[in-house]
Amino acid sequence: MIICNCNAISDKDFKKVAHYADGSIKKCFSALDKRPNCGRCFTGIQNIIDLAHADYIAAEKLKKSVA
Ligand code: FES
Repeated sequence: MIICNCNAISDKDFKKVAHYADGSIKKCFSALDKRPNCGRCFTGIQNIIDLAHADYIAAEKLKKSVA
């Protein structure tokens, strides 16, 4: 599904870079070699970043519990 209409960037594209973008919407765009325009997509992108971070934390906790 397209999240950013200005740049035709999908949720899958943002999911790929969300973890590496250090929680920053601006860095997500940079990682995709794009620039934000209108900003209407920011809430959706922030949700993707937050979910990616939550998944990362859960995976780290699971690793520690198994180790
Ligand atoms: S919809 Fe993403 S910058 Fe406009």
